Amino acid sequence: MIAAAAPAAAGDAAVKRGEYLFVAADCTSCHTDTQHKGAFLAGGPPLATPFGVFYAPNITTDPHDGIGNWTEADFHRALRSGIGHGGEYLYPVFPFTSFTNLTDQDIADLYAYLRTVPPVAQPNKADDITPPFGWRFLLWFWRALFFREGPLPTGPGHDAEWQRGRYLAEAVAHCQECHTPRNLLGALDESVAYSGNPDGPDKQDAPNITSDPSSAIANWSVDDLTQLLTDGQTPDFDYVGSGMAEVVKGTGALTKADRRAIAVYIKSQPPIHTERREKKKPE
Ligand code: HEC
Ligand code: HEC
Repeated sequence: MIAAAAPAAAGDAAVKRGEYLFVAADCTSCHTDTQHKGAFLAGGPPLATPFGVFYAPNITTDPHDGIGNWTEADFHRALRSGIGHGGEYLYPVFPFTSFTNLTDQDIADLYAYLRTVPPVAQPNKADDITPPFGWRFLLWFWRALFFREGPLPTGPGHDAEWQRGRYLAEAVAHCQECHTPRNLLGALDESVAYSGNPDGPDKQDAPNITSDPSSAIANWSVDDLTQLLTDGQTPDFDYVGSGMAEVVKGTGALTKADRRAIAVYIKSQPPIHTERREKKKPE
């Protein structure tokens, strides 16, 4: 019956689009404890931050331990507004400050994809947060000071490729979450966007990727940057490691046009000079 087949096909397309975004956003690395062979999306490894250790929860379709009983509206509210199922404020370790910039359509597609994930009954681990940061209600102040709800308005004066790159970098692949320094309350300091953060998530040392000639990547071409986002190779034939290797798994699955768009957008960042540092030794 043609009438019945049509909605199913539309649903499949939404799931496919959702999966594309899901991979690019690298939801897996926080929500799956790969190192301990944890079940897919059933809860993540410890995420160390200056405010304590967080565990990304189970987001499988299990109705009790996961988000199986969440409506699309609940899910939309979590990504757009950083608000959980019970109306609680979510901690910005969950990069909703980037995901807020997603379009309604993309959030709906992500939801469609997550509905296909098998349920896993695995209770969430409690976070281990340094007081007073464990007091969720304080997030009200944090949000009032630092959170601007999306979606992202179009940036004036740029072509479609740049707009697409900006959307992918800011809303989906959340490059700033690691590459932009944070203030004392853990909010991104966008006045120095992309100038690097030696104290990135999980103690990662994320370098300056602005166009500053001496401390950043001014000498990388758009092709160099596209290459890095494809397989992790840098212009001097090294390979990026730590969290960036995970990011590349996501961007490597994008179309070439999408990777190039990100590169074009990143290359347009104004130069910000920082002291060149020795790479921190992995802990
Ligand atoms: C950098 C790590 C990180 C990434 C990447 C990430 N999350 Fe999360 N997520 C978290 C953490 C930590 C929490 C818990 C926040 C809290 O307890 O307030 C969370 C919470 C959530 C919640 C709320 C679940 C609940 O039970 O309250 C949903 C839904 C969610 N994430 C979906 C996603 C999706 C979809 C993606 C990819 C588009 C994603 N997350 C990417 C770390 C992450
Ligand atoms: C989870 C944290 C994280 C996210 C998200 C992230 N990066 Fe990185 N990035 C890093 C780290 C850490 C390094 C350093 C890797 C190393 O030392 O091998 C790095 C390295 C790089 C480099 C190499 C710079 C150099 O001087 O060698 C570039 C370019 C880069 N990232 C671009 C991006 C772009 C573009 C995005 C978004 C698509 C992004 N990163 C998202 C953590 C991140």
